[in-house]
Amino acid sequence: MPENKDSHEGPDLDAAYALKTPEDSVRLYRDWAASYDSDFASSMDYRLPQAVADAFAAAGGAGPVLDVGAGTGLLAEGLARHGIGPVDALDISAEMLETARGKGFYRELMQADLTQGLSIADDSYGGITSSGTFTHGHVGPEALDELMRIARPGARFALSINAAVYREAGFAAKLDSLGGALRDLRLEEVPIYGAAADPAHRGDTALVALFVKA
Ligand SMILES: C[S@@+](CC[C@H](N)C(=O)[O-])C[C@H]1O[C@@H](n2cnc3c(N)ncnc32)[C@H](O)[C@@H]1O
Repeated sequence: MPENKDSHEGPDLDAAYALKTPEDSVRLYRDWAASYDSDFASSMDYRLPQAVADAFAAAGGAGPVLDVGAGTGLLAEGLARHGIGPVDALDISAEMLETARGKGFYRELMQADLTQGLSIADDSYGGITSSGTFTHGHVGPEALDELMRIARPGARFALSINAAVYREAGFAAKLDSLGGALRDLRLEEVPIYGAAADPAHRGDTALVALFVKA
């Protein structure tokens, strides 16, 4: 059952959507890492990581994959169901990465801020995935330049972008501006949560941006 929000004093979805800076994310996810899977993912019937993994697999995605904003590793678990690997994790929160590490789905775990330059070589990855990180108060479209740089030519992307911020936060314009640097762009709209979710968010959707680095 969803928690009664009035009695909830820890991190929750509304606090996450209200984040403003990377430092805010570090603080919130430090406190959320231990309970995120039970307190949020399970109680909200959080379906997005598996939906992104399914879309990546259906589009022919293959490793090595970088999962950005990897959190506790739910998307890597979804990729493992398709036999896709190896998968590396990148996240700004050391505590979320530690929770993910314990599950054993990632080859490497990197603590880094997606809004800054990444210490990863050009053309490193054959796939880039993300769920729940391009959303209210989190990471904006500026991160796409670095992700394009570290992807190999021909790399498959599957990135969820909260539908409510897709135009408003500049993702549509950014993908347009990348022009010939990418090909086969399509957007798949998927529910973020299932029927058991808090009614306030039950209808929320994300666009899974599927494209290939040219
Ligand atoms: C809603 S969680 C999603 C985690 C996981 N992908 C999932 O679907 O369960 C968002 C994640 O983005 C990470 N994050 C937020 N801002 C970030 C930034 N600037 N750089 C890297 N990761 C960031 C958070 O630490 C958190 O783990």
